[in-house]
Amino acid sequence: MWQQAVERAATGGQAACLNKHGKRGIMEFRNLGRTDVRVSALCLGTMTWGQQNTEAEGHEQMDYAVAQGINFFDTAELYPIPPKRETQGRTEEIIGTWFASRKNRDKIILATKVVGRTRMDWFRKSGATGRLTRAQIFEAVEGSLKRLRTDYIDLYQTHWPDRPIEIFGGLNYKRLDGDEVPIEETLSALSDLVRQGKVRFVGISNETAWGTAQYLRAAEVLGLERIVSIQNAYNLLNRTFEIELAEFADREQVGLLAYSPLAQGYLTGKYRGGALPPGSRKALFQRLGRYETPQAEAAMALYFELAERHGLNPAQMALQFVTTRPFVTSNIIGATTMEQLQTDIASINVRLPQEVLDGIERIHLRHPNPCP
Ligand SMILES: NC(=O)c1ccc[n+]([C@@H]2O[C@H](COP(=O)([O-])OP(=O)(O)OC[C@H]3O[C@@H](n4cnc5c(N)ncnc54)[C@H](OP(=O)(O)O)[C@@H]3O)[C@@H](O)[C@H]2O)c1
Repeated sequence: MWQQAVERAATGGQAACLNKHGKRGIMEFRNLGRTDVRVSALCLGTMTWGQQNTEAEGHEQMDYAVAQGINFFDTAELYPIPPKRETQGRTEEIIGTWFASRKNRDKIILATKVVGRTRMDWFRKSGATGRLTRAQIFEAVEGSLKRLRTDYIDLYQTHWPDRPIEIFGGLNYKRLDGDEVPIEETLSALSDLVRQGKVRFVGISNETAWGTAQYLRAAEVLGLERIVSIQNAYNLLNRTFEIELAEFADREQVGLLAYSPLAQGYLTGKYRGGALPPGSRKALFQRLGRYETPQAEAAMALYFELAERHGLNPAQMALQFVTTRPFVTSNIIGATTMEQLQTDIASINVRLPQEVLDGIERIHLRHPNPCP
């Protein structure tokens, strides 16, 4: 385990921390929505723990991340990934055993999620498939609290919408038929959890501009909880968030919690030239189709070349681009080894010169959103 010394600087929402080489790094903190809660600009993703990573590895990652100034973790009742009946909930359990042994629940801003509409039927005792109804949300939160060994969740998010809509990939709008749980019902159940003290704040994930607007409107009209964040995919190969949602995030202070900032590993360059590193997500699960378009390859070649020309690690360039966007509250990183985690967290101290930012925009204009 990394033994880290942490010094919290009292100023400006930044924490200075010593990394394993004794070098000083700086973690930045930002407000979560309109609340006065400050979360680190990097959030620790957890979805590999319990499948690709063991409990001990998960604990080691959390220890290291905290020593580096991270105070924000993201998980879900669904995890680990890939979702399976046999493993569901293991990730939250791993976080729970860490809280129990480190006795530091109050030091972490903990985010988890309730599944949206799904055919998966292993989340509820009745065997019902997932929906964002009042009853399912109330049942889900109890399961998460128990696994996480805590009596409150800081940020409780809907993992994806209840209405039938294409959300993972694709740019075209298709009208899909099917009943839907009204957003008002979902938000009212989440608001009741806040009133009961089980949840501090509520957020959404994999939402559209329309869905986000409905949540904001319902809060205003019905006096319900106002969402504080939106967790969507955002990376150099998928900047669709900027088309409609960035303005919401910025003007309404519903900041983006960006997931898959490395396009699930693609933007590190590890799969370049058809490479398939043993133990990588692609080698293990073959579920990375979203990032395997012909346009993506051309775009990535240019991003890698840009990073190389400026002496930057491509993963750190990709991560710091996400972290420094003005509509991003926190960048959710994920790692399966300590070396990866170290590289990814160190991205916070990488400066992207204007030539690099200009270069990124030129590539983006040439290959806009190859992996929506
Ligand atoms: N709301 C949602 O629907 C949703 C969806 C996805 C993720 N998330 C959240 O966001 C977090 C991060 O998502 P993500 O895992 O997709 O993020 P990502 O940053 O795009 O991919 C992370 C993966 O890339 C590889 N990697 C990371 N750093 C590396 C490095 N320096 N060098 C080489 N390989 C590296 C590792 O996989 P391998 O070692 O296997 O190659 C790692 O697990 C998740 O843990 C979860 O909390 C939310």
